[in-house]
Amino acid sequence: MTAPATPSPLALLQRCHLESLQRAYDEVLTRLGLDGVLLFSGHPRRHFADDQEAGFAAYGHFMHWTGQADLARSWLLIRPGQRPRLKVHAPDDFWHLPARLPDEPWVEAFDIEMARADAPPALPAGHFAVLGDVSAALAETTGAARNPATLVAALDESRVRKSDYEIACLRDANHRAMAGHRAARDAFLAGGAELDIQLAYLGGSRQRETALPYASIVGLNAHGGVLHYQHYDSVAPARRRSLLLDAGHRHRGYCADITRSWAGPDADPAFAALIEGVTALQRRLIGELAPGMDYVDLHRRMHRALAELLADQGLVHCTPEAAVAQGITRAFCPHGLGHSLGLQVHDVAGRVNGAGRPLPPPETDPALRLTRELEPGMVVTMEPGFYVIPMLLAPLREGAAGGDIDWSLVERLADHGGIRIEDNLVITPTGHDNLTPPE
Ligand code: GLY
Ligand code: MN
Ligand code: MN
Repeated sequence: MTAPATPSPLALLQRCHLESLQRAYDEVLTRLGLDGVLLFSGHPRRHFADDQEAGFAAYGHFMHWTGQADLARSWLLIRPGQRPRLKVHAPDDFWHLPARLPDEPWVEAFDIEMARADAPPALPAGHFAVLGDVSAALAETTGAARNPATLVAALDESRVRKSDYEIACLRDANHRAMAGHRAARDAFLAGGAELDIQLAYLGGSRQRETALPYASIVGLNAHGGVLHYQHYDSVAPARRRSLLLDAGHRHRGYCADITRSWAGPDADPAFAALIEGVTALQRRLIGELAPGMDYVDLHRRMHRALAELLADQGLVHCTPEAAVAQGITRAFCPHGLGHSLGLQVHDVAGRVNGAGRPLPPPETDPALRLTRELEPGMVVTMEPGFYVIPMLLAPLREGAAGGDIDWSLVERLADHGGIRIEDNLVITPTGHDNLTPPE
């Protein structure tokens, strides 16, 4: 007789994750007077007047239990003290392979029905809520309240501090993404076009494009200055000055979000020095990550440090204080220092405090997605940047700050686009742990 297989460490972690998730849901549902919540995974959208579908990722709260990003049209019923009930849409369909379930502990812990129809399950008598991308008409057929804000906010909050299982998944996603980054860097140094770099990234990280947590940003030269540059040129530029690659991986639902910037053989030495400077700045800011830190404060420190870097590199001639006060650093870095990371790349509840009170970003920093105090278990990105964005620099040139900027150096850097260095970090009781491995 063979002994039963010992569960893997990840399987044990997943069991603990499910137990604490059940406790969290039990507490929230009981507090809100609900007998249960029905989570709809969602469905892909069809292109208008077409039979082709857009990419799909399941609803975050559905993935919190299952980790299944591609399980569409499926329903999960959670009730206090009861086994989760999952209705998986698995129609008879000779065009596609039916939905498959992974060999993971949650499958054992749930009552699962493989259903031909995608209709919601009949709910027992009681007070229920239904969450997800559900129409008002469909919600009405269930008799459940659709997306009640207090419940959504409470469940969002339950995703802010990650369990050990979730951290293990995020670490794994980071390792896979970094393998892609290495392959992409090599493709860049070998003279590849943006498309070659993206294909190398997908190959190195072993994933297809539709499985990415977000569309890779592969910017050669000036394209690196377009924050969410969305194309992949198939022809390499004649002069290879720079690559900005922002690309991730999704593992068991959890996302990596990593950016690296590289100087090419035709880079201006000032650009390479700026990459070093932004990297050092990012390392210093990472060193400050700890429970109790206010992320808005860290974002402000980033602007101060960027101002010092710009002064050191001769890009600005005024004091760092004046560079920040005049909006010079915001023109060179208009995005936030980072955001919460988890089942979504820009994860939920970044702009509320633990009690659900809104924490809007400062007026000067509308793009900052994380405005709360850091706590153990939170996973955040740290992604300072420097970009030459003509649209943002033009008003400075014409205003009072114009005389404080070395415009000839800006011109020299313009065709390098920009720099972003982005890692993923978990806040620990005493500081932080970097989930992103070295290149
Ligand atoms: N990849 C998007 C971001 O860094 O926020
Ligand atoms: Mn990010
Ligand atoms: Mn990113």
